[in-house]
Amino acid sequence: MSDIAKDFISHLTIAALKGIDGKARPFYEQALQGACSSVPPPYSMQWFGETFRRKGRDASWFAGLLVSDAHMEGYSAGRLWQYGERIADPGLSEGMLRHARDEAKHSQLFGRVVVDVFPQLKSAALSEQLASFVPQFPVAAGTLTDAPTFEELLNSLILINLYEIKALVLGQLLLPLALAHAPEANKRRVSKMLEGILRDEVYHVRYSADFIEAACAAGHQAYVFSALEEFQKTLNVVTEAELNDAVESNEIYL
Ligand SMILES: [Fe+2]
Ligand SMILES: [Fe+2]
Repeated sequence: MSDIAKDFISHLTIAALKGIDGKARPFYEQALQGACSSVPPPYSMQWFGETFRRKGRDASWFAGLLVSDAHMEGYSAGRLWQYGERIADPGLSEGMLRHARDEAKHSQLFGRVVVDVFPQLKSAALSEQLASFVPQFPVAAGTLTDAPTFEELLNSLILINLYEIKALVLGQLLLPLALAHAPEANKRRVSKMLEGILRDEVYHVRYSADFIEAACAAGHQAYVFSALEEFQKTLNVVTEAELNDAVESNEIYL
């Protein structure tokens, strides 16, 4: 495998970031490249894209995936809001609350994408289910209310960063499948909604990358390099399991 192919995810991420602000983030870029070449994410592999596209041809599987995306986006929105409220730094706190609002909007958008792609699914019960995924802000505080320590914050931002990269890559795999299933009249709208989500994901990668870059510059480089690789390794295991689980559990639609 060539280095570019192995590092496909870091190349794509770094190019997307540079596309919005042209800024170099040398520590972050090196850490991400290191992690992606020593523990390559499954979604950087050809077999993953092929499996995803093969499964995605099945309308029932794909409808289930869109519904679970609507659910996951809403769920993350709620958790991010609670976390953002605990952060003492006003800039970072506001950034995370904004992130939470974006994810809540994504939950709504995925809900609209489901019925635009599969109009035959439209029903009061599905609308009710999709609406229940979207949190109402402000979200009530969870059991933890203390401000996170710097170490906890750094771990969280690394995890957020890797999850957002995953969202960006999977979103790019999902878009052509959604267009293939959507009726002609709805394709343009579906494409606009999914492209809007992808644009937001790049901004989510950016604020977390900026935090990671600043932490490295402040002397936490060695920790960041090993944590980023460790977390990517864990995320890889989770991702492979999800792809397999999705086959059995998403057969309830259509
Ligand atoms: Fe999202
Ligand atoms: Fe996101």
